[in-house]
Amino acid sequence: MRTPTPSVDLDPLPLLIQGGMGVAVSNYRLARAVAMTGHLGVVSGTAIDLVLARRLQDGDPGGEMRDAMARFPVPGIADRVLERYFLPAGRRGRPYRGVPMRSHRDNHASQDLLAVAAFVEVALAKRDHQGRIGINLLTKVQVPTVPSLFGAMLAGVDVVLMGAGIPRDIPGILDRLAAMEPVETRLEVAGASARESVPHLRFDPTRFPIDTAPRRPAFLPIVSSHTLATVLVRKASGSVEGFIVEAPTAGGHNAPPRGTGAYDALGQPLYGDRDQVDFEVMRDLGLPFWLAGGIDSPERVREALDTGAAGVQVGTLFAFCRESGIAQPLRSAVLDAVHRGREFVLTSSRASSTGYPFKVAAIPGTLSEQAVYAARTRLCDLGYLREAYIKPSGGIGYRCAAEPVADHIAKGGDAAATVDRMCLCNGLSAAIGLGQVRGDGVEPAVITSGDGLGSVRTVLDNGDGYSAADVVAHLLRGVQVAGRA
Ligand SMILES: Cc1cc2nc3c(=O)[nH]c(=O)nc-3n(C[C@H](O)[C@H](O)[C@H](O)COP(=O)(O)O)c2cc1C
Repeated sequence: MRTPTPSVDLDPLPLLIQGGMGVAVSNYRLARAVAMTGHLGVVSGTAIDLVLARRLQDGDPGGEMRDAMARFPVPGIADRVLERYFLPAGRRGRPYRGVPMRSHRDNHASQDLLAVAAFVEVALAKRDHQGRIGINLLTKVQVPTVPSLFGAMLAGVDVVLMGAGIPRDIPGILDRLAAMEPVETRLEVAGASARESVPHLRFDPTRFPIDTAPRRPAFLPIVSSHTLATVLVRKASGSVEGFIVEAPTAGGHNAPPRGTGAYDALGQPLYGDRDQVDFEVMRDLGLPFWLAGGIDSPERVREALDTGAAGVQVGTLFAFCRESGIAQPLRSAVLDAVHRGREFVLTSSRASSTGYPFKVAAIPGTLSEQAVYAARTRLCDLGYLREAYIKPSGGIGYRCAAEPVADHIAKGGDAAATVDRMCLCNGLSAAIGLGQVRGDGVEPAVITSGDGLGSVRTVLDNGDGYSAADVVAHLLRGVQVAGRA
């Protein structure tokens, strides 16, 4: 007999949200450290199956993965994941065993790995404190979303935050998962009209025999405009509890500019008046909202509050703190560049195969260097950013503009679309020390950051790095909000 469980109440509203940062830059350690300061810590759920599978193959030193897996409510499912990926002595330099590339043909084993992995990340972030934890997913990465949400809900996730697309279906999906009802979503297929017959993605939570249904988390879409916020309030498939309003200065992917598409001499998109957010419209929606992008000081926090925001979401300052998932040598290289005033972040309109602008920090030895980029043999073996398309035969195929050029063209892709694309799946995995081993070394990393990378200087303590708690203390120095932390 399953007992229905109430939805999560966002009250009291968090003043500070640590933004979700993939792949596993905002891992369970960072999110937990932030939650323990009384604010909202957010784990990244992007490619979380790959992250768990690789941590297990690295021997899970410390045993945290296995501890959390032992608490998964359906032990047989977690056991099968462990059996498949855990290597007690690590890989001994060998390449990682792959996880299946995601598609509408995903079987139960693929869905189970996602659910277990999201459960583990949230359960570890929630360990031994009463603070709140959210999970961030990218709307564009559609296939893994529902099993990942369900796994996070099994661990009691409080908030789901999603941008990089229009997450209209998600509120209704959260309602169904909380009611333990099967979820069916239409696969997004490039070029297919709404009337065209396309495959559906299916996930059945009743495969997980549990006594108490999970709580329905609060849902905060990440938007770049008041127009999109308004559309979501009116047309989303269920309730939206608030918004993150993200400016194009933010790290990671950005919304493309509205309007004509002008670029500067470096090829960076130029934003104009049409990209300005109308805060009167935001306030009139009657839902709390948080501002993101370039919030790096108590003054910026106060300015955000003055617009009527409930608080702020911050990424860049947290991305390079001690608890972040970025591999230590890369984090040191970034801090060193900042220390010497040599930091530079490019808003690339080419790097991401999604077509969205993506920020790339210039760090020696990473894909930001032309020589490193050119030396990498193009290959697509993770495939999270692939798009589904209709083959001439009528079947469904998957392609990515960062895959080998000949493959992309053979799949009906445009050669021009492949130019200067980076393999973000492999590059971002390498940035957190989980890069795949190739014949000629380890995959090169790519580091993303907000435009305000230099503001890390304001929290840098004599070059020795800083903690998540230092960031919180720095941002909220002297900031007072009646009735809240
Ligand atoms: C390293 C890094 C990775 C990010 N990855 C994601 C992501 O996976 N999903 C997402 O919605 N936002 C992502 N972001 C954006 C943050 O969640 C946050 O909104 C943003 O960093 C706020 O702006 P700021 O970087 O100026 O602080 C990322 C930001 C950084 C710095």
